[in-house]
Amino acid sequence: MKLLLSEKEIQRRVSALARRISKDFTGKEVLLVGVLKGAFIFMADLARKMTTPVKTDFVRLASYGSETRSSGKVKLTKDLEIPLAGKDVLVVEDIIDTGITLKYLHQQLKARQPRSLKVVTLLDKPGRRQVDFRADYVGFQIEDHFVVGYGLDCAEEYRNLRGIYILK
Ligand code: IMP
Ligand code: MG
Repeated sequence: MKLLLSEKEIQRRVSALARRISKDFTGKEVLLVGVLKGAFIFMADLARKMTTPVKTDFVRLASYGSETRSSGKVKLTKDLEIPLAGKDVLVVEDIIDTGITLKYLHQQLKARQPRSLKVVTLLDKPGRRQVDFRADYVGFQIEDHFVVGYGLDCAEEYRNLRGIYILK
């Protein structure tokens, strides 16, 4: 494994994202919607660095096919518990790869008529897009590597690493 982003680099970037997001949502309460499982550590850090009031909820999505790549079919396997109508919602994701997962989730959540719907992703691999999807806030743009750590896994391993590593 090769280190791509150190704990320090990640924390500095997450702090900057939290400042920017808190500023954009000044005077509002934000409902953070974490995408399980990969986003749980990013969301925990982001939520604690934000200065606006937040509520938290989670969804879980499954994509069929191989373990390391999205195949194109997505379904919601764990739904939200908080209704979105009239809320300012920020989806919190670990990584956008093909874009298929978030495009699907965005459509599902938009239909529930939140007051606003934004997306933050810690990592973005724009070179791998199969469908057009852009996050409102991006931590780091990275090359096409399979990465683990800071919530991201390979077959459920490595989620608890403090840095982000390229799996070779
Ligand atoms: P997408 O639908 O292709 O954008 O895939 C997004 C999901 O695939 C992410 O939420 C991750 O769960 C998984 N994924 C994509 N790339 C990586 C990676 O480099 N490491 C770990 N998981 C990844
Ligand atoms: Mg994910």
